[in-house]
Amino acid sequence: SKYVKRPKVAENASSTSRSAFRFPVFTEQFDKPFPFFRKPSEVGSFSQDYKRQFHHDRHKLRIYVKPAVSDPCFDLSHGYSSLIRKDESEKEYLNDMLRWVMHNKEKFLLQSDRDKHSATGIKSLNTDFLCWRGLLTKLLCTPYENREDWMIAVTKFRGTYYLCEFDTESKKQQKEQTTPQQDEMCYGGWKFEQYVTADKEGDKPDTSSPVNNNEGFCSVVRTRLESHSLVYGGEVDAWDPAIRGDGKYLELKTSRIMQSHRQEQNFKRFKLIKWWAQSFLLGISKIVCGFRDDDGIVHSLQDYQTQQIPSMIKDLHNPWHPNVCFNFLEQFLGFLKHTVTDDDPQLVHLLTWKPRGDVQCQRLERGSEYTFIPRWFVDWEGW
Ligand code: A3P
Ligand code: MG
Ligand code: MG
Repeated sequence: SKYVKRPKVAENASSTSRSAFRFPVFTEQFDKPFPFFRKPSEVGSFSQDYKRQFHHDRHKLRIYVKPAVSDPCFDLSHGYSSLIRKDESEKEYLNDMLRWVMHNKEKFLLQSDRDKHSATGIKSLNTDFLCWRGLLTKLLCTPYENREDWMIAVTKFRGTYYLCEFDTESKKQQKEQTTPQQDEMCYGGWKFEQYVTADKEGDKPDTSSPVNNNEGFCSVVRTRLESHSLVYGGEVDAWDPAIRGDGKYLELKTSRIMQSHRQEQNFKRFKLIKWWAQSFLLGISKIVCGFRDDDGIVHSLQDYQTQQIPSMIKDLHNPWHPNVCFNFLEQFLGFLKHTVTDDDPQLVHLLTWKPRGDVQCQRLERGSEYTFIPRWFVDWEGW
């Protein structure tokens, strides 16, 4: 087998790790032609309201309002003290994705089964993987990531692999040690969204109401990466009436104004890879970035075409390669199919990765603290 089975772990650790496998991460191994990746197509969407409640509708999709002047002087700290904060202690798991699935049973029927089964239950979602887009962004960037580790729980249930991210110890520490300045920077990202979006066409941005980061709109897409079919959801910041045809969605970003070659290189190496991966996965064609100074004032806006980003970074010494990102993801998903074979909603395989290391895979005991498929989904009457 191409996957390495680790020597048996110490007996006292065996209650949590019955078996362990690892998946090596070297960029050379993934430097092959870009794998087949079908253009993601939207199969549905949902909204999250001011209290983070799920709604099976599009009412939280914002509309982009391009600023009329070239230097808009947006103050990203404005209203910071009135931020209505999402409760970070409330772990969301895959719950809203699962709720969306339960509203869209018919979208998972095979064409041939449509008439036969529509009145009764479905046996399977006929999809290999279901997760959030953010998790796939992390996986795509893994071959080039040198700071942040990750932890992913995998459960196979009715033939589908459900993937759910958990905070690592270092991520938990990072969250606890967030400085007031960092927190204000995070606020700035949401405030920028408020400055350049409105509720509906013809409206002006309302920049006096408090920012509430509970609110969001998610697009759910279906796609295929080689032999892997995937359904995932991700937040969409706005739609742009100026974009023609489909792919009207926009990603909004903020970033520090760049003043040196060094800053530009870092921007291309570390930021653009994440921006590219995040938007490419949902088929979002345009990213609008507000460039701010150290006082949090946005002085200019810049459009990036997602498709153009890989060619923009080619002048880097040792650039990142989109084909390496996608081959890594393709092989990683293959590794999961190979390693996780038991179909059981209570069983979790925990995958952990640290920069410069291999992916470690542990099979946990049934009903462990990482179990994330809720009873209401297992007991869904749609099955
Ligand atoms: P910026 O990235 O523009 O600063 P997104 O860009 O993915 O739509 O996220 C919107 C904003 O949410 C970000 O704006 C940032 O302020 C905040 N944000 C994104 N990811 C975050 C994270 N991992 N932790 C804290 N805040 C985050
Ligand atoms: Mg967003
Ligand atoms: Mg954004």
